[in-house]
Amino acid sequence: MEHLEPLSCTDPVRDGFHRRLCRLRRNPNRSGPPHDPIANGHGAIGQERSRETAIVDEEITLYDHVGGSAFFGPLVEHFYDGVEHDPVLRPLYPDDLGPGKRALRLFLEQYWGGPGTYSAEKGHPRLRMRHAPFVIGPAERDRWFHHMVAAVKRSGPSPEIEARLLEYFDMAATAMINHE
Ligand code: HEM
Repeated sequence: MEHLEPLSCTDPVRDGFHRRLCRLRRNPNRSGPPHDPIANGHGAIGQERSRETAIVDEEITLYDHVGGSAFFGPLVEHFYDGVEHDPVLRPLYPDDLGPGKRALRLFLEQYWGGPGTYSAEKGHPRLRMRHAPFVIGPAERDRWFHHMVAAVKRSGPSPEIEARLLEYFDMAATAMINHE
C-alpha cells in the first residue's frame, strides 16, 4: 500500500498534477540561500541556479493550497455527519466519534503535505492494518466513499482540487476492502 502513505513533494512517484501543485508559486523577491556557493556572485549561471533553488525551497502542497486545517477540519466534520446517520457504517464506529475524527483529520493533513502530527503520535499510518478489525466489503466501501464525495463537495474546493481528492479517496477506499 505504498501509494496510500505520505510522499514528499519531490518524490519521483508523484504524478504531474501533484508536482505542479507542490511548486505552484514562488516568491519572486527571494534569492538563493546565502550558503549556496554557486548562487553567490558567479554571474548568470549563479542567478539561474538561484532561481531553481528558490522554486524547490518554496513548494506549495495541496494542504497549503486549500488553507490547511481550516479546510480539513470541516471536511472531516461533514464526512462524519454522513457516517453518524448511516445504518451500514454507524455500527462499525465506536460510540464516541471524537478520537476517530481527529485521527482522520491528522492523517489527511499529513498525507497532503501538512504537519506530521499523525505519525508523531501514532507511528506509520498502515491504514489497511488499522482497518483489519472492521469488516469492510463493497457495500461499506461504497457508503464510505459516498459520504466522502458529499463532504468534499460541501467543502467547495476548486474543480482541480476536487478531482484530485476524489481520485485519491476512490482508490484508497477500494484498497481498504478486506472482505467480499
Ligand atoms: C472503505 C471504507 C472504510 C471504512 C468502513 C472505515 C472505517 C473506519 C473505522 C470504523 C474506523 C475506527 C474509527 C474510530 O475508532 O473512531 C476508522 C479509522 C480510520 N480510518 Fe477508516 N474506513 C474506511 C476507509 C478509510 C479510508 C479510505 C481512509 C483514508 C483515506 C481511512 C482513514 C482512517 C483513519 C486515518 C482512521 C484512524 C486510524 C487510527 O486510529 O489512527 N479510512 N475507519
